Amino acid sequence: MKNTIAVILAAGKSTRMHSSFSKVLHKIYGKSMLEYVFDDIRAIGINKGVVITSRSNGIEKKISMPKGFRFAFQDKMLGTGHALKQAVKALSRFSGDILVLYGDTPLVTKDTLRKLIEKHKLNGAACTLLTTTMKNPSGYGRIVRDEKKDVLRIVEDADASLYERMIDEINVGVYCFKAKEVFKALELLRPKGPKKEYYLTDAVEILSRRKLKIDSIQTDDSDEALGVNSRMDLARAQTLTKNRILTDFMHQGVGIIDPSTTHIYNDVKIGQDTIIYPFTVIESGVRIGKHCKIGPFARLRPGTVLEDAVEIGNYVEIVRSRIGSGTKVKHKCYIADARIKKNINIDAGVIITKETNKNAKR
Ligand code: UD1
Ligand code: CA
Repeated sequence: MKNTIAVILAAGKSTRMHSSFSKVLHKIYGKSMLEYVFDDIRAIGINKGVVITSRSNGIEKKISMPKGFRFAFQDKMLGTGHALKQAVKALSRFSGDILVLYGDTPLVTKDTLRKLIEKHKLNGAACTLLTTTMKNPSGYGRIVRDEKKDVLRIVEDADASLYERMIDEINVGVYCFKAKEVFKALELLRPKGPKKEYYLTDAVEILSRRKLKIDSIQTDDSDEALGVNSRMDLARAQTLTKNRILTDFMHQGVGIIDPSTTHIYNDVKIGQDTIIYPFTVIESGVRIGKHCKIGPFARLRPGTVLEDAVEIGNYVEIVRSRIGSGTKVKHKCYIADARIKKNINIDAGVIITKETNKNAKR
């Protein structure tokens, strides 16, 4: 994506999450929210960016930054507008477009991001916003339009009038701005609300008052817009992500008997005609061949490789092990750090670990 730099806002205090660490580091099926955002922007060819964080939340120590990305620090949590301002120094000479995303909005898809940027570049707008409509929009900023349906401003839920609260079109929190225009607008932001915050959303009103073009695209899938503020939101993001992951596997020819009780993490590979029975957990990095049967009640942990036609039954846990093709581990077993050959039948209740292997040799 030419002449486009991403800025991810991830400095917030995560108050509503009640957590000792930043909410954007919370994981959804093995991948942090921040990594979801990174992976999407890199998938659409954006290779440069700035992540706004605070020195106290320690993100820079926990995330390995992809090449081309750097941190900028926000020391006082004075709102999303103030957060974006922290990127200005790093980008002062840049005159292209800035894609601004929030680190707590991990479900926006790369297709949507691509469409947003393409429309922005095609129409030469000063700002292009991503919006959606929601049955229950409470908590989100609402999009206020004039009679010609042009965007006038975004009003935050807490500041909205009764009438504005009835607007069901919301601000997802993904924007494409002309860098030079948004930098000027950031200078004009004034603190607002009980917490005296500088809202990035006010930059949109500043641009529209200057008669600059504000464009928008709307996604029909309001699930994409989920902003994760609380543990309840995180649980919802997990359910939505689970369904995306399982649907992808079913499209690839993997049988999932009961999607509601099956949990497959990111970065798992499963061959065609393998069947996953209910209550099964398959964690990141697991590789499974074709024609396997897994579960019910199986747990496959990182480093597990199952060759083709392996059968794993109930109450079996496997970690860092390779199981040869045709082998069956059907009942109540724990296997760690092992290499099991082809076509073996492992009895019920067997435990194989580094320790038991050593003992066996003696
Ligand atoms: C924000 C939007 C709202 C939108 C919603 C979508 C504003 C003022 N409001 O509200 O219109 O509908 O997201 O989910 O932007 N952050 C910082 N520094 C700060 C404050 C926040 O980096 O000082 C970061 C947070 O880490 C978070 C993101 O910005 O990732 C959004 O902040 P949050 O406080 O969650 O905004 P919302 O109230 O959800
Ligand atoms: Ca939020």
